[in-house]
Amino acid sequence: MIELLGDWKRTCYCAELEEKDVGKRVTLMGWVNRERDHGGLTFIDLRDRSGIVQLVFGPDIDPHAHEKAKKVRSEYVIAVRGEVKRRPLGTENPALKTGNIEIWCYEIKVLNVAQTPPFPISDDEEVDENVRLKYRYLDLRRPKMQRNIILRHKAALWVRNFLSSQGFLEIETPFLTKSTPEGARDYLVPSRVNPGCFYALPQSPQLFKQIFMISGFDRYFQIVRCFRDEDLRADRQPEFTQIDMEMSFPTEEDIFDISERMITGLFKELLDVDIDRPFPRVSYREAMLKYGSDKPDTRFGLEISDITNVFKDTKIKVFRDVVEKGGSIRAIKVPQGQKLSRKDLDELVEVARSFGAKGLAWFAFTSDGIKSPLAKFLSEGEINALRELLSIENGDILLVGADENEEVLAEYMGRVRLSLPARLGINLQGYKFLWIVDFPLLQWNEEENRYEAVHHPFTSPKEEDIPLLDTDPLKVRARAYDMVLNGIELGGGSIRIHSSELQSKVFKLLNIGEEEAKEKFGFLLEALSYGAPPHGGIAFGFDRLVMLLAGEDSIRDVIAFPKTQKAVCLMTGAPSPVTAKQLKELHIEVKL
Ligand code: AMO
Ligand code: AMP
Repeated sequence: MIELLGDWKRTCYCAELEEKDVGKRVTLMGWVNRERDHGGLTFIDLRDRSGIVQLVFGPDIDPHAHEKAKKVRSEYVIAVRGEVKRRPLGTENPALKTGNIEIWCYEIKVLNVAQTPPFPISDDEEVDENVRLKYRYLDLRRPKMQRNIILRHKAALWVRNFLSSQGFLEIETPFLTKSTPEGARDYLVPSRVNPGCFYALPQSPQLFKQIFMISGFDRYFQIVRCFRDEDLRADRQPEFTQIDMEMSFPTEEDIFDISERMITGLFKELLDVDIDRPFPRVSYREAMLKYGSDKPDTRFGLEISDITNVFKDTKIKVFRDVVEKGGSIRAIKVPQGQKLSRKDLDELVEVARSFGAKGLAWFAFTSDGIKSPLAKFLSEGEINALRELLSIENGDILLVGADENEEVLAEYMGRVRLSLPARLGINLQGYKFLWIVDFPLLQWNEEENRYEAVHHPFTSPKEEDIPLLDTDPLKVRARAYDMVLNGIELGGGSIRIHSSELQSKVFKLLNIGEEEAKEKFGFLLEALSYGAPPHGGIAFGFDRLVMLLAGEDSIRDVIAFPKTQKAVCLMTGAPSPVTAKQLKELHIEVKL
């Protein structure tokens, strides 16, 4: 029953045909999306990557082709020859791009048959993601996935052309390399010819791109795969793609300028959306205070305010204890607070608790006074101070958190804030970009009892803060920046350290001993000592960018072959055990 393609040549894609093609004879190839018999005729929706067109077979068009067409089933691969006709009035399908035409077919070849697929190849059906990932080749046939993957191609092509037009050179860097630290675990690859030695897959090309600047290439970019063994989420994969860039002699302004032009240009090109620039800039400190996050979603207000001063002499015990211990009290004013039910308020307390809060207080301001479990402890003075400080009107509800630990407080107030739009029926729309700047250089790692880099160890401190490296390292600000879109970290980068001495000093602060520094980064320290220009750069999460362009919620929907939360590829079954022979060759023994 299966036929050969022979000398048939496709003349165009299905959905390229339009009314102006009426009368043309065409040869089309693709998959049977749907077939049905109706009034003595057989209709087939033929699908290829461009979309769908309706084929018509009938005894009066060609009885032999009609008989063959009756036997095809969903997902059979067919080739047809026919004539483009206008659909009879009243039978047009406005849902289809080709809905005004159809192909009257006088020849058909069945090029392959297909089993009944485990789910329909359509966007209308919710299919379990594990099933989709197992049969990814079928899932990728769905129009939405085809659109996403094609969009991804267009985005990569546009970025490549743009950066090239701006003098950036695309240069490849190795995958089999040494550890490039970005804060995750490495994926390791054993070396057969160097027993006991391992390559690390790069967490990013960070060190290589810095070396390119030292080598004088001036401007580098790469659309490149990075590998990180970390816990996965909707916007994290073990292998993902970066738009990675680096330039020589830049200031932060140069990096902001090129990045903003690239991103806004991309949104204009692919979505025809105009985005204002320059993007707003918010310091890390302000972001943590106002939004409780270093990647704030600024599509809605509901900002967090510090109200510690109002409660300096309070009778509310939970607040007084916190103030006495030097902690802070912060609040979110929710206008039209009646939209929050009692159940919402209880749930908000739970949200706060799940992120480390001891509790979350609420005060409803009404025309008959304050309603709150703590109302009777609240003084007239405090009420007036709050009304004035936060311009409170009757109807508003104040959500209040108090904590000795500023970081915990910021985090849970941020989480409470993020859970509000859904409860208040606020529709989050548009694209809100911003830069987060003035990150601290270092943070304290409690568990390991040492400083660690907030960004990575190659980030330059601000010039004026360098003396603080000796006296108060946690106060040192970094020349680092993140680009944030709608609450998602889209990219991050920094101006780098280009002095060998300063780099050694930072390694020392990070508790990387001289020996270890030499072993791990000796080549960098040495390279820096041979005339390294000032340099800096940034890397964007390409999967996240395409996800946002496509309006998806998960990067898995814009990656052809993603892995599950457990880092498994359900289609191929990777990772999997290997043979004893392979292990032996690699000088590896497995103990489970
Ligand atoms: P950073 O670690 O911030 O910086 O990574 C840059 C961007 O890559 C994206 N990203 C991820 N996307 C999907 N899955 C992951 N597991 C994942 N991890 C990161 C994010 C992030 O903003 N070398 C530096 C850049 C530089 O300093 O120039 C770096 O890699 O969108
Ligand atoms: P409790 O004394 O724990 O029963 O709490 C009394 C009220 O204060 C409850 O509404 C708690 O949710 C709230 N509360 C307790 N601890 C805090 C805190 N650290 N910050 C804000 N509200 C709190």
